[in-house]
Amino acid sequence: MADDLCFSAKDAFSIKPVKKSALVLRMIVLVFVMVCGVYICSICLKQIGTQSTAGFLNVQVIDRPCPEPDVEASEIPYMHYPKPKTFSRAECGCNPVRYFAILSMQRSGSGWFETLLNNHTNISSNGEIFSVKIRKSNISTIFETLDKVYNLDWLSSASKNECTAAVGLKWMLNQGPIQNHAEIVDYFKKHGVSAIFLFRRNLLRRMISVLANSYDRDKKLLNRTHKSHVHLPHEAEILASYRPSINATLLMKDLKQVQETTTKALEYFKSTRHIKLVDVLEFLKVPLQEVKSRQVKIHRGSLSSHIENWDDVQKTLKGTEYENFLRTDYGR
Ligand SMILES: *[C@@H]1O[C@H](CO)[C@@H](O)[C@H](O)[C@H]1NC(C)=O
Ligand SMILES: *[C@@H]1O[C@H](CO)[C@@H](O)[C@H](O)[C@H]1NC(C)=O
Ligand SMILES: *[C@@H]1O[C@H](CO)[C@@H](O)[C@H](O)[C@H]1NC(C)=O
Ligand SMILES: *[C@@H]1O[C@H](CO)[C@@H](O)[C@H](O)[C@H]1NC(C)=O
Ligand SMILES: *[C@@H]1O[C@H](CO)[C@@H](O)[C@H](O)[C@H]1NC(C)=O
Repeated sequence: MADDLCFSAKDAFSIKPVKKSALVLRMIVLVFVMVCGVYICSICLKQIGTQSTAGFLNVQVIDRPCPEPDVEASEIPYMHYPKPKTFSRAECGCNPVRYFAILSMQRSGSGWFETLLNNHTNISSNGEIFSVKIRKSNISTIFETLDKVYNLDWLSSASKNECTAAVGLKWMLNQGPIQNHAEIVDYFKKHGVSAIFLFRRNLLRRMISVLANSYDRDKKLLNRTHKSHVHLPHEAEILASYRPSINATLLMKDLKQVQETTTKALEYFKSTRHIKLVDVLEFLKVPLQEVKSRQVKIHRGSLSSHIENWDDVQKTLKGTEYENFLRTDYGR
């Protein structure tokens, strides 16, 4: 049928060639109009598409009517508005929250530093949560843990109310940050986490603290309970009564290793927003009482009184880059 019609039309028009060319013209115009129509339609659809996404964005903005904070633009990436799954931030939903991580090493005063932070109503520092093996077993469990902490869903004795303004944790360098530094630096940058480096200047003093602490873990000098931190001066005296002997052969190597770890950490994390605190404990000597940490320092005063084999240690370090550590007033 269609073929027949076609042929008959051809036959009909072949009689008048002028009219045939007019038909061709008309066909061309028709096709042109159709193409234009399709083109215009597609543009219309595209615009409708963008309009609907714009509408969607508007809805999102309406959903969070927090006023623009009056801060420098460089601050914005560090201000967060988490929505915890476990509770509602209620009237503080629009208070920005800052994320931090205290990167430190055992026996560097970080426990003391954390008690200071946690004494603030709006600060929540959740402790050494990566001391638990499963949480640091791989990068996915690390991220999962961090997500929970920074979403305010981590429950610890340090958890504060809905008005938390800064949340973080204490993270020892041997609990993952060095091993997984590339991924963690990415995470810190992506999520606007600030790093607080907390180190001790006098690594010899740190070594005494490490040895004494591990001795007490076995011997439990205070009523048969092991204590890493104490709150009473007489308890501090009891713990300090143990004078560790330091293996002079290994001393230089151990000090070097600790220093290298610190240097590495600073190098890896230097591209994140960070602050470096060295010996806060000593640095804040005067305001100690004002800031009200209830912890009491265990090893005070001259170093020679805390080391069993002081003479050996002195001989080993004399004339080396670590000679300063022997001075009583150096990074007490
Ligand atoms: C801060 O320390 C003071 C004095 O020790 C104490 O009374 C107060 O309850 C502490 N605040 C918090 C939030 O821990
Ligand atoms: C990471 O560790 C957890 C717990 O040990 C395990 O369930 C998970 O499969 C591990 N994931 C990867 C990617 O290795
Ligand atoms: C700190 O917490 C109090 C209530 O505990 C709240 O009123 C205040 O707005 C909070 N401050 C900040 C900066 O979030
Ligand atoms: C240890 O025991 C003594 C005597 O029983 C007591 O006076 C002291 O408070 C106890 N100390 C601790 C840290 O429990
Ligand atoms: C010091 O350490 C070395 C190597 O581990 C060991 O051979 C030596 O016996 C130790 N010295 C003392 C006094 O413990």
